[in-house]
Amino acid sequence: MWHRLGAPPVFHVLEVGAGDGALARSIVSACRQLTLGFAQALRYIAADYEPQWTPSTGHRIDLDSRTAADEPDLSLKIQQVKASGLRAFRNVTGCILSNELIDNFPVHRFAIQNGSVKEVYVTLEGGKFTEVLDEPSTTGIAGRLADLSLSDGYRGEVNLAVEDWTRDVSRTLDRGYVLTIDYGLPAAELYAPENNQGRLICFHQHAVQQDPYQRIGQQDITCHVDFTALMRLGEQHGLTTAGYIPQRDFLINLGFADCLESPDSQGLSAARAAINRMAMMALVDPEQYGDLKVLVQAKGAALDGELLGFPRP
Ligand SMILES: C[S@@+](CC[C@H](N)C(=O)[O-])C[C@H]1O[C@@H](n2cnc3c(N)ncnc32)[C@H](O)[C@@H]1O
Repeated sequence: MWHRLGAPPVFHVLEVGAGDGALARSIVSACRQLTLGFAQALRYIAADYEPQWTPSTGHRIDLDSRTAADEPDLSLKIQQVKASGLRAFRNVTGCILSNELIDNFPVHRFAIQNGSVKEVYVTLEGGKFTEVLDEPSTTGIAGRLADLSLSDGYRGEVNLAVEDWTRDVSRTLDRGYVLTIDYGLPAAELYAPENNQGRLICFHQHAVQQDPYQRIGQQDITCHVDFTALMRLGEQHGLTTAGYIPQRDFLINLGFADCLESPDSQGLSAARAAINRMAMMALVDPEQYGDLKVLVQAKGAALDGELLGFPRP
């Protein structure tokens, strides 16, 4: 991406939903093995709304253009920011990155009844959460489903929050790329007949739970991302789709096989190297993380030439 932008002296990676910074630290430390010019250009901003993050500002941050000459330690280049979404940021040249963020966004649940779209609302009955179907609170739900033919009884979810997200991404990014890694499918697969009970899943202490009305506030509620919607919205906001691929293929194209062999050469014990290898295999296993999707969108950036991780054009 840096090369395709013409090797700018400052390249920002703005990760939204950086969590505990695991991906941020991995990326920055891997940069040591890349072109020196890129390592010097990189400024990594790790943003998250979780309170454990250092609250550096609540205001808009105009990312500046300092040089890296006085920052020899690359780990210093991760700036932690407490922020929700992207509204605090402007003037990014580089890459807006998210990994498992968009599947966290709140969704509307719908059901098809007598050939029309109803929204699933929640009420209390006898002290218990109960679902009721009624007219949708927004036309956006039916709008998103317009191209699909869903039969009566079909239930699913629509993530309308990606509309504001995509607009904010486009506003924040001056020039560069949006790299989105998440669980999801194109609309035709996401809303296929076999998914007629939707793709909302809850996680509690790493175990999958089906019922979102249990353990309120204590379990993670996630929903598969509609990548067709993300791409279409992007095109409306000046973000051109540059690549879309399963994580498994993305990592293989990036040289996964070589990385798999490298733990041995780093002086690790055989047992530790085997554990590392198993963890790495999970990243490409379609039953685990291999089926995550990787989407790259571009704004004001060259689309010709090779984008690492994707098949050669
Ligand atoms: C699964 S974690 C991502 C971990 C991280 N990206 C990584 O790969 O190491 C999702 C994170 O997104 C954050 N998050 C969810 N919605 C957000 C939002 N609107 N703005 C900022 N952070 C958000 C959560 O606090 C959580 O830390």
